[in-house]
Amino acid sequence: MRTDQAPVISRLAYAPPAYSIEHVHLEFDLDPERTRVKSRMQLRRNPWAGADAPLQLDGEDITLQSLLVDSRPYVYAQAGGGIRLDKLPESFTLELVNTCSPAANTHLSGLYMSGGAFFTQCEAEGFRRITFWPDRPDVMSRFTVVLRADPARYPVLLSNGNLIEQRRLDDGRAQATWEDPFPKPCYLFALVAARLVSRQQRVRSRDGREHLLEVFVREGDLDKTEHAMQSLVLAQAWDEQRFGLSLDLDRFMIVAVSDFNMGAMENKGLNIFNTKYVLANPATATDTDFQYIESVVGHEYFHNWTGNRITCRDWFQLSLKEGLTVFRDQEFSQDLAAAAGGESARAVRRIEDVRALRAMQFPEDAGPMAHPVRPDSYVAIDNFYTPTVYEKGAEVVRMMQTLVGREGFARGMREYFARHDGQAVTCDDFLAAMAEANPDSELARRREAFARWYAQAGTPRLRARGTYDPAQRSYTLRLQQICPPTPGQGDKQPQLIPLRLGLLGRDGSRVRMRAEGAPGAGPAEAADEVLLVLDQAEQSFTLHEVEQEPVPSLLRGFSAPVVLDDGLGDDERLVLLAHDPDPFNRWESAQRLALARLLPAAAGEELRADARYLQALRAVLHDTSLDPAFQELLLGLPGEGYIAEQLPLIDPPRIHHARQQLRRILADELRDEWERLWRELAPQGGYSPDFAGAARRGLRNLALNLLCLTGDAQWQGRAYQRVKDADNMTDRFDALAALVGSRAELAPAALERFAAMFAGEPLVLDKWFALQASAPGMTVEQVRELMRNPQFTLRNPNRARSVISTFCQGNPGSFHRADGAGYAFWAEQVRAMDAINPQVAARLARAMDRWRKLAAPYAQAAEAAMRELAAHEGLSSDCREILDKALA
Ligand code: TRP
Ligand code: ZN
Repeated sequence: MRTDQAPVISRLAYAPPAYSIEHVHLEFDLDPERTRVKSRMQLRRNPWAGADAPLQLDGEDITLQSLLVDSRPYVYAQAGGGIRLDKLPESFTLELVNTCSPAANTHLSGLYMSGGAFFTQCEAEGFRRITFWPDRPDVMSRFTVVLRADPARYPVLLSNGNLIEQRRLDDGRAQATWEDPFPKPCYLFALVAARLVSRQQRVRSRDGREHLLEVFVREGDLDKTEHAMQSLVLAQAWDEQRFGLSLDLDRFMIVAVSDFNMGAMENKGLNIFNTKYVLANPATATDTDFQYIESVVGHEYFHNWTGNRITCRDWFQLSLKEGLTVFRDQEFSQDLAAAAGGESARAVRRIEDVRALRAMQFPEDAGPMAHPVRPDSYVAIDNFYTPTVYEKGAEVVRMMQTLVGREGFARGMREYFARHDGQAVTCDDFLAAMAEANPDSELARRREAFARWYAQAGTPRLRARGTYDPAQRSYTLRLQQICPPTPGQGDKQPQLIPLRLGLLGRDGSRVRMRAEGAPGAGPAEAADEVLLVLDQAEQSFTLHEVEQEPVPSLLRGFSAPVVLDDGLGDDERLVLLAHDPDPFNRWESAQRLALARLLPAAAGEELRADARYLQALRAVLHDTSLDPAFQELLLGLPGEGYIAEQLPLIDPPRIHHARQQLRRILADELRDEWERLWRELAPQGGYSPDFAGAARRGLRNLALNLLCLTGDAQWQGRAYQRVKDADNMTDRFDALAALVGSRAELAPAALERFAAMFAGEPLVLDKWFALQASAPGMTVEQVRELMRNPQFTLRNPNRARSVISTFCQGNPGSFHRADGAGYAFWAEQVRAMDAINPQVAARLARAMDRWRKLAAPYAQAAEAAMRELAAHEGLSSDCREILDKALA
């Protein structure tokens, strides 16, 4: 067990491992109560280690039975949960036997049971819960794995790599032997022993090599595997086409498990997935689910090169694999969208990613858990699988691509693999390969300023002010960047910011410019768009041959993860909303226009939605040249969390109220449009989760949602009818959400019908629970009532999150209450969950990250609940780290 006084691990304290394990032969006698693990390792002292260097093996919640060095018993010392061996020869064989208890393992880390079957999760430090091992990613070994189990209960026995032997033993058990040809760190180890069925597909890579792809699920779920398989086939083809990276194994398996802490795991050749990111058919999954599956399947598949073939030297380098792999999965989804719906479909994906970044990562960067993309210290590494490491990390990689171009980026990737294939490396190594493969780029010239993206926490603020000189026909942009202080980081250096920009006339026309002369500016010929590269705290750029006073369109495509203050007013934003050729900035203008109306209301003033604003939105809905998915984004209001981040002090119920009011105004004022869209966007054929179909459904269901919000009984009746007879989950669930969201009289009956229809579908029930936990006006007592439902359990992370996290983190208008009842509930649930699953508990603990921004009396009540929780002894180090930082 981890203790209260868990040590802080520092990045600069890294020391390379004293010993390498060249090969390991692992044997498992699988038994739920007491699994026996036998391990035979071939070790060698590394050249840099002294002859007296001890061997440190980690171990947690496992029992050592015997230990032999070169076949002889050997003395060892207990050390920090693991063991230490001294006075070892230069090269030797270490054999040990230990036991573990999968049935008692509720952490879902290490070897555990789910639905009566065996699964593993080893990232980041789960392997030490299986056997004694130097549990660090820079020890890479070849694994041979022998599994023995009762074939009646566990007919399928899987591990990494290739199946080399399968047989029946004299005692009636089955035995399977797997061999992974690639050396790997232990966090990529996996085994599965279960009763499963699989969908199979054979594919050929460009070099002609054949591969078997398999998706394993429980019997009865096979009809929900087509989309995951299709996504896997697309991912395999995409990585070859875009980066020249082929599958390096004969066999690639995905296994779905319903009890899982995170989304999915990229174990070599044996990816293990949360069922949520595998199982989908039109009756049970929404368009959004289909899309998530595509990107998570892509993500884990892409890890095979970015993460597995080249891995992390230490966990501070986590973004080396996660930031890069998120970037790759985002590019994959964008390319697929563009193939289906053109460039505006690509932009839709980009906007969705930026919206998620701002909703999750910006608040993290502004709060007590702020940390650099490459953190400097941690207590529990599981707490650093964060939006900063993942999503901001992906933006950092994206900026590299912006600076060196798509071709240059592909060249940098080739250089990275040429240098480091088979190694455990650092974020610096990636940047070096990328920069040195593009020696003439701004990335190479100003690598130091760029590297600060890895080192400095906090979201830079970029202030931009332009002045037009009609006599010179020049436009001068004055730019200032500051990065706010974050915990442990006071003063910061300027970062390298790629700023894509264009200019528009007041009439919406494109205004050309020549950017010659400005340092880091684009081409010498006049152009519609330029890329400026900032690396100073203050810089000015002058654009020439600008024929009229322009409206600047700055930070196109969100070319850097910064907060932009462009000083523009409504007039300019309306021009951009109507005419900007950059879809991202069109959307951004709509968001800013909405914010300009919401923020005063969230601070206590009366909400005003003026005719000009409404007219601009009406024009969007009228513009038949726009993709419906893009129209839906333009009409979508900023989320409550994002609104909160714009305010110095927050009153969450008031923010919720202001946003609801504006939604109601959009519903009433644009009612004719919504009714027209409902008619015009009626389905043209059967359901298919493709981009165009999803886009139509999305906008049409937004229309239904707002029409229900008007309180019109007829529309609510129509929604109720759809809950009953829709032919797909997207329409059915959106109709249900429209009823719940408008607090319709029919909502309880609709919820009941829905639950009865999907009693046997856990993933659908999760949606049902979450919809209620996020409902406006939800009380703590009603949340408790949901938890009394016999289908509720704290032991399944998806289910627990669907109620508790959804209420505490996804329903700010109800969770934050003057009497503090929400906070007391939160504290109670964190404690209860911590006793079962510290990783999941620590994520829930983060619901209070932004408590210092709360207005009175919320902040006081929040602090009291947090201090009371923190006073409890026996909290996990995971939770303790979060609470200590929040209260510091
Ligand atoms: N590496 C996984 C990913 O693809 C993340 C992950 C899965 C994970 N399961 C985990 C991280 C458990 C920590 C603990 O992003
Ligand atoms: Zn990942």
